[in-house]
Amino acid sequence: MNVGFLASGRGSNMQALIDAAKAGRIGIRPVVVISNNSDSGALERAAREGIACRHLSSATHPAPDDLDRAILSTLVGHKADLVVLAGYMKKLGPQTLRAFKGRIVNIHPALLPKYGGHGMYGIHVHEAVLKAGETETGVTIHIVDDEYDKGPILAQSRVPVRPGDTPEILAARVLEREHAFLVETIGRIARGEIKLSAGKRDASQIT
Ligand code: GRF
Repeated sequence: MNVGFLASGRGSNMQALIDAAKAGRIGIRPVVVISNNSDSGALERAAREGIACRHLSSATHPAPDDLDRAILSTLVGHKADLVVLAGYMKKLGPQTLRAFKGRIVNIHPALLPKYGGHGMYGIHVHEAVLKAGETETGVTIHIVDDEYDKGPILAQSRVPVRPGDTPEILAARVLEREHAFLVETIGRIARGEIKLSAGKRDASQIT
């Protein structure tokens, strides 16, 4: 299964998948990494790994339509079967969403539908979880549609919130789980154990 990545930041989740693929633990081939941020760790990692990488953003393509088309043709040109958003901070355009409908997955550092949507990214997610007094949080992997963090949930994993947690401590605990859970879940997708068209699972399937 050829995987195309979109990532804006450090790219540690993407790296976890690359490492698992290199070690033969999952049946995916990373084919291209696209970032809206020319300085991103994700592009640096891709270059180091010898994976094709492209900086595509409103700087390279000021018209949203052109950017959408450039992203789509990059993914298609590298024969991506699956697209993984690994910390991608932008919305995808309608052409890419349509062409890859049901084949774009995102990872979110909370148990959606809680703590998702506009403004819920990075440390803000963990701050909100702590502020609400939650005793658990987690990781969600879901299909991407045209609304932030709203597409069908494929898999979720719980992570405990511990007394004395700061947002940073909690973020680190969740991130560690993200890496393992993303590899596990993409592996299940590659093996056909999770069908991308399966749609919403119910909460009883949260692990
Ligand atoms: C992760 O927490 C992911 O869940 C969220 O963005 C963060 C990306 O981290 N969507 P990294 O770039 O993979 O290190």
